[in-house]
Amino acid sequence: MRKKIVAGNWKMNKTLQEGVELAKTVNRQVEDTDVVVILCTPFIHLAEVSKAITKDSLFLGAQNCASETSGAFTGEVSVDMIKSTGAEYVIIGHSERRSYYHEDDALLNKKTKLALAAGLTPIFCCGEVLAERQSGKHMQVVKSQIENGLFDLSAEDFGKVVLAYEPVWAIGTGVNATADQAQEMHKAIRDLVSEKYGTRVAENTSILYGGSCKPSNAKELFSNPDVDGGLIGGASLSAADFMGIVSAF
Ligand code: 13P
Repeated sequence: MRKKIVAGNWKMNKTLQEGVELAKTVNRQVEDTDVVVILCTPFIHLAEVSKAITKDSLFLGAQNCASETSGAFTGEVSVDMIKSTGAEYVIIGHSERRSYYHEDDALLNKKTKLALAAGLTPIFCCGEVLAERQSGKHMQVVKSQIENGLFDLSAEDFGKVVLAYEPVWAIGTGVNATADQAQEMHKAIRDLVSEKYGTRVAENTSILYGGSCKPSNAKELFSNPDVDGGLIGGASLSAADFMGIVSAF
């Protein structure tokens, strides 16, 4: 069965000391249940936060990775470097990377393959902007992001990927997708995966929702059959809010 996952994406927040404190608090509060909890920290926090994690259900992830394996790429961080910190996950294709850093489908496909080769689990993000939803193109946009980013993977490799649907209009706005909007998209994504890789792979793929998810709406969002958890931005910066979301399961 697919995993239930709550992943915090700290984005560019918290100094090293603040991040370690937050990780320690989450580590203390997290219970060993069947919910996988992931902290996706800035690169420079990874090695220290890794030491703060002692619970079996708490994991570490990065928010991005380089599209090359090593060499003269000043300022970049490779998948092997990420893996060497103890991290097991990496967010790929977040909408902020797609829009501010012009990361396109081909680049994200390359990063995904590097992550998989390094033994990291990609958390692959997709999602439409408001204008695309308003013009009824949201399904098509998400479909093409997933097809172009992932559908040349083998079934075995695709089976290792976690998907995250994050409608851009819901990120950091306080306006979350409704439970129905989330379920509709997650179901469409699962059907798409099923057509390509078969029902078994589709049923085993965790699809997370992201965008203004908070303790007050997490229960309703997560109670949908195709919503397997959340990718949490703002609310992951407070242990109380983040744990409130984790306990929504
Ligand atoms: P918010 O939870 O702050 O809306 O951010 C969602 C997100 O982008 C997680 O990756």
